[in-house]
Amino acid sequence: MSKALTEVTVTAWYSTCVPHKAYAAAMKVSIRPLLFNDIPQLAKLILATPLWQRYGLTEAGISKDFERALKRSDLVLVAESKKQGICCFAWAQAGASFGRSGYLKLIGVEEGIRGQGIGKELLKEVEDFIKDVSYDLFLLVSDFNKEAQAFYIAQGYEQVGSIPAYILPDVSELIFRKRFAHD
Ligand SMILES: CC(C)(COP(=O)(O)OP(=O)(O)OC[C@H]1O[C@@H](n2cnc3c(N)ncnc32)[C@H](O)[C@@H]1OP(=O)(O)O)[C@@H](O)C(=O)NCCC(=O)NCCS
Repeated sequence: MSKALTEVTVTAWYSTCVPHKAYAAAMKVSIRPLLFNDIPQLAKLILATPLWQRYGLTEAGISKDFERALKRSDLVLVAESKKQGICCFAWAQAGASFGRSGYLKLIGVEEGIRGQGIGKELLKEVEDFIKDVSYDLFLLVSDFNKEAQAFYIAQGYEQVGSIPAYILPDVSELIFRKRFAHD
């Protein structure tokens, strides 16, 4: 059994329809490295995400990609809760951008638990790892994915370029970058 890197309690405030009444729901997730046995559950999570449905991903393709990622010792983190199991993940590679910088390949949080700070915590874990070995972290985000763009900008990323029709013929992949301060 793999040890959790971090235990995070995220608290989200939900307004009810009664004015001035709100309640807090705290959700505890543990962040740890991906294991081979997790791959089928992770593939389900990815296949349920409309963004990746649009990119035509398949269960077999996703499984193969993550098996290779583990063999290469890429950084693949998952967050799990006792209730939901694996509900989020992030996949990054050191040195994969231009042979020099980190690359965040994928990050995802299950739809029903977005906006509670889990994506931020996962990304922070990735950055803490990458910034020890690289000056910056790059990623690609679809031009239509405004939510993810807002998320990355809030975490200190800036758009530095764009690649038209890189994966899908009608979509540009925006290049985002975060620089890390080094002494
Ligand atoms: C992008 C994604 C990973 C963000 O995860 P999340 O857990 O919902 O994000 P968080 O709750 O940690 O948000 C962190 C910050 O990002 C910003 N943010 C997140 N979602 C946002 C949105 N839809 N609009 C505006 N800002 C947003 C907020 O400012 C938030 O900061 P705050 O809590 O201090 O106000 C998640 O929405 C997701 O899985 N989307 C589908 C898959 C995807 O698009 N992946 C990225 C592909 S490149």
